Amino acid sequence: MKQLCFWITTASAAALATLAFGQSDSLSIGPRFHRETGLTESGFAGTHIAYGREVPLYKGYPGHQATPLPAPAPLNMPLGETIASRRSIRSFSAKPLEAGDLSAILAAADGLTHRLGAYDLRSAPSGGGLFPIELYLVATSVDSLAAGMYHFRLADSSLVLVSEGDFGGRLAAAALDQEGVKNAPANIVLTARFDRSTRKYADRGYRYTYMEAGAICQNIYLAATALHLGTVAVGAYFDQEVNDLLGIDGGTEASLLIMPVGYPAEK
Ligand SMILES: Cc1cc2nc3c(=O)[nH]c(=O)nc-3n(C[C@H](O)[C@H](O)[C@H](O)COP(=O)(O)O)c2cc1C
Repeated sequence: MKQLCFWITTASAAALATLAFGQSDSLSIGPRFHRETGLTESGFAGTHIAYGREVPLYKGYPGHQATPLPAPAPLNMPLGETIASRRSIRSFSAKPLEAGDLSAILAAADGLTHRLGAYDLRSAPSGGGLFPIELYLVATSVDSLAAGMYHFRLADSSLVLVSEGDFGGRLAAAALDQEGVKNAPANIVLTARFDRSTRKYADRGYRYTYMEAGAICQNIYLAATALHLGTVAVGAYFDQEVNDLLGIDGGTEASLLIMPVGYPAEK
């Protein structure tokens, strides 16, 4: 352990020294990524993935059945109280998730809020209005909704059935069997369609995409809190398993975060 700590300390010192002196060859991927996507007057060092490519703003599942979400339940809790009482919740009761509550959480997460000419604007900000984040729902026990994997079609606030069946166990297994994921009546999965952002911002678009996931994550936390529901951001999961479950390739589109939602278990 002592040796490991020494190695980590030495490696960090070396990385910092390299940053300070401007050589990036020996940096690990994290600091190198940050350095190479740092903007200067001459641009940035990274390659220009997908720069200039046309990328559809909305993901579609033609021919798949869509279920309109009901009107969102009202978020009545004052903002100050909501922020002050937000906590990560990992234990949920067996109560099925009400569709109005789910609708409110998805609308708050990244729902349409304004139309500005050709732009559809949403509850969460997005660099260049390019909206690289997609939301999926793995529903196990949601009122009036068959168990299945759904894609949130925010353009008309509906859930598009990607595959029917109970995928909760598979998702939980991919998330190291974490209690929150396993017992929640539903899990929201955030993914990134990186090329929506990299087509304008090139590799720097990755930075923006991660930040945007953070904004959506906090919206989900706050909406859940205001409705007296619980959620937790889950970043510890096997990427490939979750990507396979969603049917995405992990490159063009990749999972970023799982957020179980449900009613907190009685203490
Ligand atoms: C990016 C990110 C990843 C996280 N991953 C996990 C996780 O895999 N499992 C978990 O139980 N909590 C996870 N959390 C929740 C944190 O543990 C939690 O936010 C932290 O302990 C602070 O508690 P609070 O949210 O109640 O303020 C994650 C939070 C963030 C922001």
